[in-house]
This record gives sequence, C-alpha cells and structure tokens, in this order.
Amino acid sequence: QQIRQFNHNLLKWFYQKGRHLPWRETNNPYYIWISEVMLQQTQVNTVIPYFNQFISRFPTPDVLADAPEQEVLKCWEGLGYYSRARNLQSGVREVVEKYNGQLPDNKEELLSIHGIGPYTAAALLSMAFSQPEPAIDGNLMRVLSRVFLIDDDISKQKTRKKFEQLASELIAETDPSAFNQSLMDLGAMICRPKKTDCEQCPVNEFCLAYDEGAQLEYPVKSGK
Ligand code: ADE
Repeated sequence: QQIRQFNHNLLKWFYQKGRHLPWRETNNPYYIWISEVMLQQTQVNTVIPYFNQFISRFPTPDVLADAPEQEVLKCWEGLGYYSRARNLQSGVREVVEKYNGQLPDNKEELLSIHGIGPYTAAALLSMAFSQPEPAIDGNLMRVLSRVFLIDDDISKQKTRKKFEQLASELIAETDPSAFNQSLMDLGAMICRPKKTDCEQCPVNEFCLAYDEGAQLEYPVKSGK
C-alpha cells in the first residue's frame, strides 16, 4: 500500500513536471538505444540536438549499419568519446545481421549485443518494451538511499544488487518506463547530490532521510 502511494505520487509528479525529451516521445527501441548511448557521458541538453540530427540522418538500424564509419563519427563530432559511436554502429550491425534489424525484447539477448550493458538493457526493456526492469545508476541509488535510509557503500557491487532488489519491488507495481524516467528526473531536478529541493519533492512524506534531515549524508560512497 505504501509502495502504491509512493509510485502514485512519483508518477503524478513526473507527468506534471517531468522533462519533455525527444527520446521520450517514442518507444522505438533503436531510438531509445541511441539516446542512452549519447547520455552515457553527455548531459541531456547537449544530447538533444545531436539525437535529433542522428535519427534523421540514420532513421533505421539498416541505414546506420550501412553507413560509412566516417559519416557516423561526423555526426558524433562534439559529443566526444567516439568509441561510443563505433560501438553503437557495431552493435547495430549485429542487430541487423542476427535479428533482422529488430532489437530483441529480452535481457539475455540484449546483453549479448556489442555495447549494451546492464543499464542500457534495463533502459530498453522498461522504456521500449514496458518490462519491469529497474535502470540502476547513481541517480536511482541516490534517491532510494535517501528514501529508505540505505547506508551501504554504493561503490560496492553488492550494494547495487540490494538496490536492484528494492527497485524491482517498486517497479513491479507501476508503469516501468515512467518509473525509471521519473527517478531520473527526480534525481536531476529535486533529489540532487548537494542542492536538494525536498520541499518540492513528491515523495518527501516517504523519505526517511528528509524526516531526519540527513539527506546530504546519503548515499554513502567510499573514496575508491
Ligand atoms: N540519462 C540516462 N538516460 C536518460 C533518459 N532516458 N532521460 C534522461 N536522462 C537520462
């Protein structure tokens, strides 16, 4: 019941206040994949025009698979970390060859594709295929460590598992795509690392750290 209310508040806030981003207007897995790769090391506002340009130049996996690498890199110019573009193109070539240009809708096959790791796989499963897979990153761990007062060290692999377990229980009760993206927005707009805006937070009534005034002591992270 608590979980349902938490999700309800979170998603209601997301629909009212969440960011409108071009890759959220689609559930095309190929477009979502491109956006996730671009967002790996680049800020949202920088990514937007590159994303739009990229999908208009390479609208389908087939087009990207056939494009000369130089042309792909040219569209990436300014984003940096060019290996991301090369990996994306080899992954897309794999999808064209092995899956007839359709991204698979299960974790095992997604993870077998070049350049797709656990985070991207979860983002695709939830946003493109509506499967209850939490996308675990620093953002999600920051928000949930505060709400649930989890003081495990987030640089440890074991801690990720714990967040995965917890987030799986939450996401199972709601719209997976909106759940993951609302945590991204909450982490970016409200539950920020240092400048928190707890008064505006849709789930502050559930937040144990807010209750204790201990927001900034979470998440716990070792110096490694
Ligand atoms: N960072 C990683 N994926 C994102 C997404 N889909 N929307 C906003 N920020 C993100």
